[in-house]
Amino acid sequence: MRNSRIIGAGMFVPPKVVTNDDLSKLMDTSDEWIVERSGIKERRYAEDGVGVSDLAVEASKKALAQAGLEPKDIDLIIFATLSPDYYFPGSGVLLQHKLGCRDIAAIDIRQQCSGFIYGLSIADQYIKTGQSERVLVVGAEIHSCGLDFSTRGRDVTVLFGDGAGVVILAPGEAGKGILSTHLHSDGGHFDKLWTPAPMACRHPRLSHEILDQGLHYPIMDGKFIFKMAIGKFAEIVEDALRANGYTLEDLDLFIPHQANLRISNMVGKKLGLPDEKVFNNIQKYGNTTAGSIPIAISEALEQGKIKEGSLVCLASFGSGLTWASALIRW
Ligand code: ACO
Repeated sequence: MRNSRIIGAGMFVPPKVVTNDDLSKLMDTSDEWIVERSGIKERRYAEDGVGVSDLAVEASKKALAQAGLEPKDIDLIIFATLSPDYYFPGSGVLLQHKLGCRDIAAIDIRQQCSGFIYGLSIADQYIKTGQSERVLVVGAEIHSCGLDFSTRGRDVTVLFGDGAGVVILAPGEAGKGILSTHLHSDGGHFDKLWTPAPMACRHPRLSHEILDQGLHYPIMDGKFIFKMAIGKFAEIVEDALRANGYTLEDLDLFIPHQANLRISNMVGKKLGLPDEKVFNNIQKYGNTTAGSIPIAISEALEQGKIKEGSLVCLASFGSGLTWASALIRW
């Protein structure tokens, strides 16, 4: 069976920079608290009226240019986001149209922080089975218009930012490309990190009462997520290496979902990885959820941290709960 490999990557973040000091003018928080607890110094916010599909168009253009392809060459779009432009339809179809692709399949998936690795895994299967030749995998998020900017929401709001990352997958030679993917979920803890409203199981889905209670804003049990994340991140990196007969010493770069710098540092230490093998850019962008790993891939390639032949492990943990990893030989 043939393998799939990444032949192009691109990222786009909105130009508007929002610093911790900017947030401290809106709510009771401080640069010191945010940096100490999360490592985040600033994040990007999209302008009003810009949707995730718009960010994805810009990131896709860069990935296509890097791969030497045009929109008509893509035969499948997989779009991971928890913040689609509209309640329905999904953002995949909007990207298909805005980018000028043929009338190809567009699949939206909702696995939050693990969305990109889930998407990569789906794309990998389509290529392995010969169903697709060029797959665009998107992770994109616009959090800024869905956050509570009062002190009530400060624990969540300071962590998140907007951005998009895209990779293009194509068939590759054996022993190279995506070696394996490992996907998990546990819906038993769905309410440890979630946005309760609008609720599709209630009539009406949205009301003044719901808005007054702030149920349309994300709610997180930060301590629970923190502890679970450290254990699960380490577990899935080891699973991915073991499945392919490698050890941590073989790994050239670990790209964790950019949830929190403290989480990434603690996972790196737990695994015994030197700091230079753990990729971090959360300081500049905050947590861009599905966007964080493809944005990191783009930057790691640009910075020469991923080279031909590098062994790279991607890992994520987040809302769902979902957690996932992918091992890639570049
Ligand atoms: N600014 C200032 N003070 C704050 C803020 C803020 N933005 N947010 C919370 N506080 C206060 C709390 O109200 C609390 O005050 P109190 O002691 O008077 O009650 C105090 O700071 C400590 O709050 P804790 O919740 O105990 O702080 P903690 O050390 O747990 O840090 C944090 C909170 C950063 C959210 C942490 O729990 C965390 O990182 N959790 C992981 C969550 C995460 O990374 N989520 C990302 C999404 S999921 C994912 O991507 C994996």
